[in-house]
Amino acid sequence: MSKIILTGDRPTGRLHLGHYVGSLKRRVALQNSGEYEKVLIMIADAQALTDNFDNPEKIRQNILEVALDYLSVGLDPSLSTLFIQSQIPELTELTFYYLNLVSVSRLQRNPTVKSEIQLRNFEASIPTGFLCYPVSQAADITAFKATTVPVGEDQLPMLEQTREIVRKFNSIYQETLVEPEALLPENSVCCRLPGTDGKAKMSKSLGNCIYLADSPECVHQKIMSMYTDPQHLKVSDPGHVEGNAVFTYLDAFCEARHFAEFLPDYANLDELKAHYERGGLGDVKIKKFLEAILQQELEPIRARRKEYEQNIDAVYDILKAGCGKARAIAQQTLDEVKAAMKINYFEDDSFLQAYKEKYQN
Ligand code: TRP
Repeated sequence: MSKIILTGDRPTGRLHLGHYVGSLKRRVALQNSGEYEKVLIMIADAQALTDNFDNPEKIRQNILEVALDYLSVGLDPSLSTLFIQSQIPELTELTFYYLNLVSVSRLQRNPTVKSEIQLRNFEASIPTGFLCYPVSQAADITAFKATTVPVGEDQLPMLEQTREIVRKFNSIYQETLVEPEALLPENSVCCRLPGTDGKAKMSKSLGNCIYLADSPECVHQKIMSMYTDPQHLKVSDPGHVEGNAVFTYLDAFCEARHFAEFLPDYANLDELKAHYERGGLGDVKIKKFLEAILQQELEPIRARRKEYEQNIDAVYDILKAGCGKARAIAQQTLDEVKAAMKINYFEDDSFLQAYKEKYQN
């Protein structure tokens, strides 16, 4: 069976380093691997509206921002189809049929939905659209017969929900949908990059992000004020590596070659960590090392972004063409779904035939 990738992001803000290590970087590698028949990357605006329905302007403002971020990290429109969820009405139609296959209590048990409900103070009154977004996500994935969904750990409950819907659909109607698999980041640190303040997750609302579009000066500032080890006051003090955001970022980004290039006194990260734990290694030194690595990684991303920013018409056209391509695929699957459910009345000769036999003897 040919392999197909589908994944996406909610356009609620610019993309940051957490998105980059957690998913974007991998997507580009997968795109370039040549192993996939199709790679589809979706801007999940309809899903973003499930908890931003009162602020559609915020979503609108971020559609092209996210597209710019995609293009700047190296997603290539000749290899990957970039599209916008709301422009594919077939996804909504699929969602409506899938909703029949899922109980309310099953949705309420979804751990990701549960924690998001708490976060958004939706406990007293959950918008139905929000509660049901995992079903819509199942439509996103199955509409393209995706086999492979590169996502962070927090999305595993969505994948499980999708697989359940697929199994139920195929067993009640007809073998039509494909069960997808999640593809998690290889490096566990990359699953959940902490914020620059050392808090659990890089997140816009916590103001602890380094954005892909940040200027070099801004990245410098953010790294220099990063959370390290509050007990490491003097350079000579022994320091802690666990929970120290600078080391967590180094775990995520640092490769052997970086030592040769930027910090030749050490052979690898283990040596650097050991020195920090022994004492005698200052925060500024490790921050400078991290900055050198990050600036080098971000430089080509910024340069590509600049080019596309100067040619925003092209970005618009890429999305428009992507939507057309994605829609044709989703339409094909929806046709198959309706055929499996036998609700394709005007494409199915036996539909009228049965009535004829009933009434015309
Ligand atoms: N829920 C995903 C997120 O919050 C976004 C998303 C929507 C998605 N539809 C998808 C991811 C389909 C993978 C596949 O990041």
